[in-house]
Amino acid sequence: MIDSRILVGLLAVLISISGIVYVGIGEADRQAEFTQAFEGRSIEAGAALYTQYCTECHGFKGEGGVGPTLNSKYFFEQRLADIGYQGTMKSFLTLTIRGGRPVMSDPNYGRNMPTWSVDYGGPLRNDQIDTIVSYVMNWQEAAPDLGDPNAEPTPVPGDTPEERGKNLFTGMGCVGCHAIDGQGGVVGPELTNVISKGEDYVHESIVQPNAVIAEGYQPNLMPQNFSQRMSEENISDIIAYLQSVSGG
Ligand code: HEC
Ligand code: HEC
Repeated sequence: MIDSRILVGLLAVLISISGIVYVGIGEADRQAEFTQAFEGRSIEAGAALYTQYCTECHGFKGEGGVGPTLNSKYFFEQRLADIGYQGTMKSFLTLTIRGGRPVMSDPNYGRNMPTWSVDYGGPLRNDQIDTIVSYVMNWQEAAPDLGDPNAEPTPVPGDTPEERGKNLFTGMGCVGCHAIDGQGGVVGPELTNVISKGEDYVHESIVQPNAVIAEGYQPNLMPQNFSQRMSEENISDIIAYLQSVSGG
């Protein structure tokens, strides 16, 4: 008799625990869904605000312009270490956007990063800034690898421009796609006499490969970011090398 009462009691306890667990699990799900929906809406709202207030200087998709590139692997993975910031990317974005950069960190910037938060006289509420932060953070996963914009160009071995240019031609992987005197890849055109098209043409072909597409070849195969990975001096060394190999 007592036994069965204990059993019934235990059963009741078990049932109510499982009920609580069940509701608890459901609640976690609902919360996750809610968080997701909230983040989705936040990113959307942030996108609209970004387009209105930030595009002018940072580009439509954070590619940069008057202001620095925000949508890059460097920015998300290396930037904070480079400036010695200890906090998270989220807090860096929040603080930078709220306060702006009233004092320029680099005189090469044509303009100042404005102050955005109403707290400091800017036009945006902090909850609006939070949505912009969510929007910028959502670039992180697919942020393109554009190299380190502040990297000191690694010294290229060679005593003359032609030698350095030749080393760059190999070191930067040009030779994998382009042949000189029949030696090298065939993805892009043979470059032995390309210099006859003019130095400016060759320069443009390197820094802006899609500006003119060589006849019979595909666009977008040649990397688009050599201008970020090489200095002007590197490029003129390559041009010197191409000059030295051409027959004419
Ligand atoms: C008038 C041009 C301009 C506008 C508009 C602008 N910025 Fe900037 N931003 C800059 C400049 C210039 C810098 C670099 C300033 C410096 O370091 O001195 C910068 C820096 C930043 C940085 C820090 C980047 C780094 O690597 O240190 C972030 C983040 C940023 N801006 C986000 C935004 C967002 C988000 C908006 C829109 C709410 C915005 N900016 C609007 C010009 C602008
Ligand atoms: C992954 C392959 C690839 C790599 C790497 C590459 N290129 Fe190209 N390049 C191409 C292709 C494809 C074209 C033709 C399409 C075009 O014009 O963009 C081309 C076009 C060019 C042209 C114009 C040729 C003409 O006849 O009009 C020059 C000059 C050139 N590349 C130089 C270079 C240099 C210098 C490098 C290294 C710094 C390099 N390329 C790296 C694929 C590549």
